[in-house]
Amino acid sequence: MPESRCLQGIWSSPWIFIFAASGSAVGLGNIWRFPYVLGQNGGGAFLLVYCLCLLLVGLPVLVAEVALGRTVRSNPIDTVNDLSERRIVHKAWVIVPWLAGISGFLILTFYSVIAGWSIAYLERALSGQFKDISQLGAEAMFEGLLANPTEMLLWHSVFMVLVVLTVGQSVTRGLSALVRILLPALILILVGLAAYSISIGNMTKTLEFMFAWSWQDITFDVVLAAVGMALFSLSVGMGAMFSYGAYMSKRMSITRACGIVVGVDLLVALLAGLLIFPLVFSFQIDVEAGPSLTFVSLPIIFGGVPAGQVVAGVFFALLVIAALTSAISMLELFVAWLHEKFYIARLKAALLLGIVVWFIGIAVLLSFNHWDNKIVFDLNFFELLDEITSMILLPVVAILLSVLVAWFIPRTMLQNEMITKQSNHFEWWYRTLKYISIPAMVVITLAGWIGA
Ligand code: TRP
Repeated sequence: MPESRCLQGIWSSPWIFIFAASGSAVGLGNIWRFPYVLGQNGGGAFLLVYCLCLLLVGLPVLVAEVALGRTVRSNPIDTVNDLSERRIVHKAWVIVPWLAGISGFLILTFYSVIAGWSIAYLERALSGQFKDISQLGAEAMFEGLLANPTEMLLWHSVFMVLVVLTVGQSVTRGLSALVRILLPALILILVGLAAYSISIGNMTKTLEFMFAWSWQDITFDVVLAAVGMALFSLSVGMGAMFSYGAYMSKRMSITRACGIVVGVDLLVALLAGLLIFPLVFSFQIDVEAGPSLTFVSLPIIFGGVPAGQVVAGVFFALLVIAALTSAISMLELFVAWLHEKFYIARLKAALLLGIVVWFIGIAVLLSFNHWDNKIVFDLNFFELLDEITSMILLPVVAILLSVLVAWFIPRTMLQNEMITKQSNHFEWWYRTLKYISIPAMVVITLAGWIGA
């Protein structure tokens, strides 16, 4: 597709794909969501299953998504349309990129609210409010934020403006420079903080909680949560990586690049766990606290570290940027499509979509206070969106996309794309996807739904 190629541009260096994809992968999912899902699912058993899911499901599906993106080099919707015009696949497959775009869009509605919490905490960090804070103080601070929809709305709006402005630019510009500095900085500060947290917190219990497991802990719920978390954390099953693959240089081995992204993503999640759990155990915070876990533990850490105000400021600034580089990948699919198909300027497309996301986000933030009614299945609006996206949409899109790539796209087409001088992982990947990832995802998802 030379036409779309010149519309979009190619990453200027193969490494930039790795940075951009890691930027999408590393976000609130690693630092906010991973610790609390780990807490709710019993620790070690979940971590073990999670690592297996990353390797046997996440990585192969990620490679499938990127490879498909690079084969056609267009936005996902036009890619499938193009393949069906060339009579390679049936038209109906266009449902996959549509569902993918919708799941990204829906995730953004609550992601932006949580990113708003991070901005709120950045403000509190800079104004020195964490100094010597007690556990009760930290809990009260978080509850105060949740009880204040006006403040949440302010930060949600600020974040959405940032998202629209960033995604309104071409993704190949600017983003990579940002991530190149951000990621190493984030990892460094996490290592430092985790070391501190381990030194003051309960390390023995943390290690036992995170790394010890027994067979009976591995239930279907745990496995389903792990698959959902793996897909969420790698940003697969919504077409984001697909778009980044479309901008990827041909010289780079897809499997190797994706392997690095998975490694970085897991590293950041583990560091977040090592940062948060020592405190959770020494202060006896409830490990099953859910979404509040990270936001209650962090101020206590910052309240005690030397130069806590500065460290906390830098940390939350990095967290907001990490959230931003993830959030833009959620809108990228539709923005690219509107731009390439209807020639709508990127900024305008981003603004249109952003306004809708912003509106739905208001309902999300109200579900933490005035509107916390349970809508269905004992879930409020936020919980419902979270469950629909990570338990239904992401797995379904991931399954359909993998079936499309493994069973319907001609093997030679993929081989041409993937076999380079430096990489011969094709067979390994292809078989894993076909015979392990797809059956595993189908069984786990169905069993999870039925409630086995
Ligand atoms: N992976 C990101 C995180 O961990 C979130 C994210 C970005 C995402 N793009 C996505 C999740 C696409 C699902 C689908 O924070």
